[in-house]
Amino acid sequence: QQEILQDGHGRRFYYLRLSVTDVCNFRCDYCLPDGYQATHRQPELTVAETRTVIGAFARLGTRKVRLSGGEPSLRKDLPEIIHAAKTTPGIRRVAITSNGYKLPSVIDTWQQNGLDQLNISIDSLNADEFARITGHDCLPKILTGIDRALELGIQTKVNAVLLSDGATARLQQFLSWLKTTPVTLRFIELMQTGDNRDYFASNHLRGEEIEKQLIENGWQLLPRALDAGPAREYVHPDYAGRIGLITPYSKDFCDSCNRLRISAQGKLHLCLFTDAGLDLRETIRKGDADVLAEKVKALIGNKEVSHYLQQGNTGGTQNLSIIGG
Ligand code: GTP
Ligand code: 5AD
Ligand code: SF4
Repeated sequence: QQEILQDGHGRRFYYLRLSVTDVCNFRCDYCLPDGYQATHRQPELTVAETRTVIGAFARLGTRKVRLSGGEPSLRKDLPEIIHAAKTTPGIRRVAITSNGYKLPSVIDTWQQNGLDQLNISIDSLNADEFARITGHDCLPKILTGIDRALELGIQTKVNAVLLSDGATARLQQFLSWLKTTPVTLRFIELMQTGDNRDYFASNHLRGEEIEKQLIENGWQLLPRALDAGPAREYVHPDYAGRIGLITPYSKDFCDSCNRLRISAQGKLHLCLFTDAGLDLRETIRKGDADVLAEKVKALIGNKEVSHYLQQGNTGGTQNLSIIGG
């Protein structure tokens, strides 16, 4: 039986989120309203470096790798990275989080290279509203890509950030879609970051408000394992889809944390909201996964019991494009 990386609070980490780029082509209001601005000039991890990172985590018990960004599909060599992840001994599932703007033309290739799970961000099913939020008028294309992913049998989730203005109308539209669409829709409570303070203050809506409405309408909470990750999932007999809630401001949110993060610059982030990441680039560059694994193991003790948001502090997290959510 292989060891699983564990912290001082009894949490086990079998899930790595690896950001492959911090660049994004969208300009979501809550994340990069002015578009991507470079903050460093070090190149992103190469394919070989991602292989070293994934190999090190696999030695420490990681079973699932999620590739994130920025927008991961902006990397031309993304299929190679998917393949590197999928062929690393010990890794069972490879997932991607994407804004989906290239989805119809890339999804087949992603699957051929080993993709198992896909998360796509859609904050509104109203095409005009979608364009206003993201700065890109491409909702129909994204939905075509999702249909194709489902046809291919890829397990698909859709992320929608909860925004207070117009929330009820958006919920109704999502509900009609879920009647016949077998995806898991996850409502993510808006999180404050260093960049979005004013936006957060005027748009934050508690996930519990939506949850109350779902329960009143017959949605049922699924039982969940302690290491299942932070989303609470609901099902309804009349719907093909499911609904999950990610409520980072709720009291016990961090108890179920099962993931660690590596940024596209090779920094280890023990949490989405802490201080700056811990720079492992030098070790990663040397290519020895055993040595890297020892380094990660030695750092895990620094993981705090909960993220800074609980204390109203965003730490070093300027926006989620930097560390891929
Ligand atoms: P799966 O369970 O693998 O589908 O992962 P996920 O829900 O974490 O994946 P995804 O990349 O779609 O994440 C959705 C969003 O949830 C993230 O971008 C964050 O905004 C939020 N989120 C995910 N994990 C955490 C976490 O550990 N802490 C906080 N505060 N938010 C998180
Ligand atoms: N709060 C909540 N969710 C966010 N995302 C990006 N920034 C924030 C934020 N400040 C979401 C995106 C995407 C996922 C990776 O993270 O919409 O679905
Ligand atoms: Fe939007 Fe994600 Fe790009 Fe941020 S990184 S602007 S949330 S698509």
